[in-house]
Amino acid sequence: MKIIKIIFFLTLLVFFVNSQVDPDVLANITQLIHNHGYPCTNHKVTTEDGYILQVQHVPYGRNNASRTQDPKPVVYLQHGLLDSSFTWFLNEPNEALGYILADYGFDVWAGNVRGNTMGLEHIKWTTNDVQFWNFSYDEMIQYDLPAIVDFILEETGSSEIYYVGHSQGGGMGLGALSIFPKYQEIFKSVALLAPATYENHQQCFLLSLLADMEQKYFFDFFGEKDFMPETWWIELVANTFCAADPIVCEDIILLIVGADTGNLNESRLPVFLSHTPAGSSTKNINHYLQLIRTNKWQMYDYGTDGNMVKYGQSTPPEYPVENVLNPPIGFFFGSKDLLVTQKDWEQTLARLSPDLQWTEYTVPDYDHLDYVWGVNAHTLLYPQVIQHLVSNTRK
Ligand SMILES: *[C@@H]1O[C@H](CO)[C@@H](O)[C@H](O)[C@H]1NC(C)=O
Ligand SMILES: *[C@@H]1O[C@H](CO)[C@@H](O)[C@H](O)[C@H]1NC(C)=O
Ligand SMILES: *[C@@H]1O[C@H](CO)[C@@H](O)[C@H](O)[C@H]1NC(C)=O
Ligand SMILES: *[C@@H]1O[C@H](CO)[C@@H](O)[C@H](O)[C@H]1NC(C)=O
Repeated sequence: MKIIKIIFFLTLLVFFVNSQVDPDVLANITQLIHNHGYPCTNHKVTTEDGYILQVQHVPYGRNNASRTQDPKPVVYLQHGLLDSSFTWFLNEPNEALGYILADYGFDVWAGNVRGNTMGLEHIKWTTNDVQFWNFSYDEMIQYDLPAIVDFILEETGSSEIYYVGHSQGGGMGLGALSIFPKYQEIFKSVALLAPATYENHQQCFLLSLLADMEQKYFFDFFGEKDFMPETWWIELVANTFCAADPIVCEDIILLIVGADTGNLNESRLPVFLSHTPAGSSTKNINHYLQLIRTNKWQMYDYGTDGNMVKYGQSTPPEYPVENVLNPPIGFFFGSKDLLVTQKDWEQTLARLSPDLQWTEYTVPDYDHLDYVWGVNAHTLLYPQVIQHLVSNTRK
């Protein structure tokens, strides 16, 4: 496996850069953060249903920036679908949100969800067991987010947390606020970067193709365990398209991850692609395919009989976003985002309670990954995110 991975990296590097192997390509998360001059510790958190998730803590900034500030606001960063906590640290320190928040004076915690590269352990099952992969993001809302929040509260002694979520991580935050009122007390301010909720109007070609497939064939084709495991991705990128033509290869990658808006630092693609996609279950992908078909933001659909057993009703419950009254929420959307499109996000906003204080921010020409990887996010987006967090807090 290691050998294949190395061949994969080398192939990518030959195509994308003429320079040396970037140390960030081969580094694990703690090494990566240390290499850039920041403190970082790794922690393991066990969920109520037995998944063991890795969480990173960056307590202060570079060169001791804001090290002695006391008390420090605590921020929890939650990554998106097929992504990992790496995502907040993949650009240069002055560009990536994880570092910027640490330098600003936040006590930074970055979570991971079950099924990604930092969520592959379970107290009972291994990744070879089909039971391990029996989850969608409903379980991330129900178990992963609560376990990580409890852990952060305990470690910091704080009673409140600032929440920043990207994509699925945004949907997780909003979902948790809607079904567990206690997070309306714990979260002090929330910034959702392209939160994935309604998906009916998404425009990603690959997802549309999969959504047109019958559910049964989807599982027949992709199996019931992990979606796009490493081998699959390597085959696609390194052997098929990329071996044929590097330009086509780059286009394929951008087709999967979003439009090419020119906001990515292309020399850094090897760094991004060595840590992403980070994995999830086919069942979770299927959950998104269900949402694309239904035009609702609802829990996993087990079919009429299965829904009766699971939910006591024949259809899956919708996430009750109208229940969210607190804290103030900033919604950040991009005009070129193919995965979270205006028609979909407007459906979410239309359901918000008039008692909730919320703000909509749009970033021109931003696509789905620019929120985390955009080389200009530190000028176009993050100042607004920080401004939102510090000036719109629950009373
Ligand atoms: C990263 O690698 C270093 C050196 O091998 C190791 O000590 C550390 O525990 C690793 N961190 C993670 C998060 O795996
Ligand atoms: C950071 O603070 C520690 C403890 O006070 C000190 O030993 C270290 O030299 C400082 N590092 C820098 C880069 O200022
Ligand atoms: C997966 O979970 C569902 C609902 O929680 C359950 O009905 C089903 O039996 C589980 N399947 C496996 C293979 O564990
Ligand atoms: C773009 O990526 C390269 C390679 O990692 C890096 O050396 C360079 O500093 C980056 N440029 C910007 C503007 O961040």
